Amino acid sequence: MDYSLLTEQARALAEEDGWYVPLLSNASALLYQSLPDLNWAGFYLVRNGALVLGPFQGKAACIHIARGKGVCGAAWQENRTVRVDNVHLFSGHIACDGASNAEIVIPLRDGRGTVRAVMDLDSPVFSRFTAEDEKGLEQFARAVEQAIHWQEENDA
Ligand code: SME
Repeated sequence: MDYSLLTEQARALAEEDGWYVPLLSNASALLYQSLPDLNWAGFYLVRNGALVLGPFQGKAACIHIARGKGVCGAAWQENRTVRVDNVHLFSGHIACDGASNAEIVIPLRDGRGTVRAVMDLDSPVFSRFTAEDEKGLEQFARAVEQAIHWQEENDA
């Protein structure tokens, strides 16, 4: 997978508007169209002390996730990428789509280093995400977070 190209595409899409809605919408579409074997790709945003569903591609998903809950909440709380080969073995995993078997969640931070969102990818294929995918997706996430003009509240 050519993550450099994908990252360049994210940067190019970001040039027109730094608001998180079009940026994360197009970022979701890029991921979902470009990566094989995904059943969900999108973002959750930190809002009022919890994660709330943001732009995504895939089946309708749960709207709120508490800090520390599920793979998304863990990535937010621990401020690090969480890569899971088998979600059924991850304690507290939140099953939004029964087809999901593997997952990777990467935090997006503002200029101060505060986590403002998480990028979540799900796959029906066990162990879908390799260390190489993790590296490439982190590069992609860095481009996206840098393109966003983070505001005090994301909907301000
Ligand atoms: N599985 C996630 C919840 C979000 S859905 O996968 C879209 C989790 O455990 O945090």
